[in-house]
Amino acid sequence: MTYNLKVFEGRRIEEIEVEAGGRLMDALLKVDPSRVDTPCGGKGLCGKCRIKVVSGRVSAPNERESRLLSAAELSAGIRLACLARLEGDAVIDLPERGEASILSAGPESVIVADPLVRLVAVTPPASSLDDQSDDEARLLAVIARKLSEEGAPELAPRRVAFAALPGLARHCRGDQAVGAVVADGQVLAIAPLRAGARALGVGVDLGTTTVVCRLVDLGTGERLGSRSELNAQRPFGADVITRIAAAESPEGLESLRSRISSQIASLARALTDESGATPEDLIAITVAGNTTMLHLLAGAPPDAIARSPFTPAFLGRRVESAAALGLAGHPGCAAILLPGVSGYVGADIVAGIVAIGLHEAKGRSLFLDLGTNGEIAFGGKAGIICCATAAGPAFEGAGIEMGTGGVTGAIDAVWIDGDTVCFSTLGKKPATGICGSGLIDALAVFLDCRLVDETGRVADEDEARALPPTLAAMIGEGPRGPVIFLDRARGIYLSQGDVRAAQLAKAAIAAGIDTLLRVAGVGVGEVDRLYLAGGFGSLLDVRSATRIGLLPAELADRVIVVGNASGAGATAACVSRHRLDDCDRARAACSYVELSSRPDFNEAYVERMMFPEPE
Ligand code: FES
Repeated sequence: MTYNLKVFEGRRIEEIEVEAGGRLMDALLKVDPSRVDTPCGGKGLCGKCRIKVVSGRVSAPNERESRLLSAAELSAGIRLACLARLEGDAVIDLPERGEASILSAGPESVIVADPLVRLVAVTPPASSLDDQSDDEARLLAVIARKLSEEGAPELAPRRVAFAALPGLARHCRGDQAVGAVVADGQVLAIAPLRAGARALGVGVDLGTTTVVCRLVDLGTGERLGSRSELNAQRPFGADVITRIAAAESPEGLESLRSRISSQIASLARALTDESGATPEDLIAITVAGNTTMLHLLAGAPPDAIARSPFTPAFLGRRVESAAALGLAGHPGCAAILLPGVSGYVGADIVAGIVAIGLHEAKGRSLFLDLGTNGEIAFGGKAGIICCATAAGPAFEGAGIEMGTGGVTGAIDAVWIDGDTVCFSTLGKKPATGICGSGLIDALAVFLDCRLVDETGRVADEDEARALPPTLAAMIGEGPRGPVIFLDRARGIYLSQGDVRAAQLAKAAIAAGIDTLLRVAGVGVGEVDRLYLAGGFGSLLDVRSATRIGLLPAELADRVIVVGNASGAGATAACVSRHRLDDCDRARAACSYVELSSRPDFNEAYVERMMFPEPE
């Protein structure tokens, strides 16, 4: 039996047939995976998948739902889509979605085009009674000559890949011009040469939250465009641990794999369309991502990454057939998965290191990529040590009651003007939640004006009486205890629990920095530069980050914001084999420090839980 579910979202109305007893979340995700926010992967833990039941029959709230929603919310029809089940026809209202603002720009530098993957246009000679050599030998000889003329004799292939043999037999029988895709010592595909054929590549930053693809011309190095979207695997959870759990069954793994490969394929297709190219012009896709994301793209079970000793199935650079991974492009398009350092310091960090040139830089620099995991590298051309801290998704908006990603309407900056706390929102829209940079600013302001003390406790009634009335009026009671309202009219606040979640996250990152510097035997004053990478790092106010103790105050004037370094590194590796080899060199220069087994990390973590005293 099925029921009719009518879904309102702003001015959009949609009707869906839903199996009797089915979860609202499953029905919504079938229509559009970005429909509901599901940071915990639909396990009824995060309370983020809120929808409003306007009318109709839906199962009664169970104990978990009653815990996550206040009585007022329940009586207003607010329900959790992953727990509520349909028991008859119903009408629901979805909050209007903000548009995600995703950072695609990174540290750009001029790159000389010298790609590993090439489209070689040749005309293999026909065989004759005088030359009865096989098609493969004649093709390889003519390709070697052409590459030598182009100044890249070392790229001459040694064999034709098994998958390209049908093309070999079909297209190398006479004096016909063919385009051969060559990479990694092999001819990957052979096809008749099309008029106007181009050689294009895509560099992919495959993040847990977002996916950014940039199209480049492999002949000139010119950047032709970029596209980004929220990662299509998000309905399975906000962080790598929930994704790993979702991939435990073969069906779950396949579902995650196919979602991400089709998403990259469709972004790449949109980019080639926009640039007036054909999908067959795409011959290389270079992917930087954390180790779990690369496993999921490859269809390799990532479960061992979540268990001690956190061993991934693979870390080295791989050159695969893009078609075998479900990606778009020329039949011989190569997919290059960049190398990673460990289960939690992945190819995204290696690509970022290459993009900023840390592996060949003089002096000693810190490189921080802040996301659901805080990945940290420290060093320079003398060597790099790196670690990952389980910061949790608080700075990505998950685990915070009114938390949200970097979408329109998110409070992204908070400051104080006299005795009034002010804020701005992304897209200058009415506030709908608080994103990571807003959370850090708000904490810094609350600490400065004593709404929160150094232990992270929200001021009580007695303490509030001592504050200016505008500040005292911000304190209130939320569904789960004391809160500080930023926008009382819209019900946007930071709760005591949110302050604790942010304390845990910032303590993990600060303790990671302390531990790396201790391992290196270097004081914080001796650090020359602090590179901040990632979308969150780019929005971060450095003064606020040092005020709450997330970043060392001594380095405030040495911070360099580098944006999407991982995407810039992936694109550079696509265009230049020197940069691609740099990824291997950078990976070899990195040694991984496992924090979970270090008592000094645990001590630093406890110490860093407190907020710093005001200066
Ligand atoms: S509570 Fe429903 S997705 Fe987390």
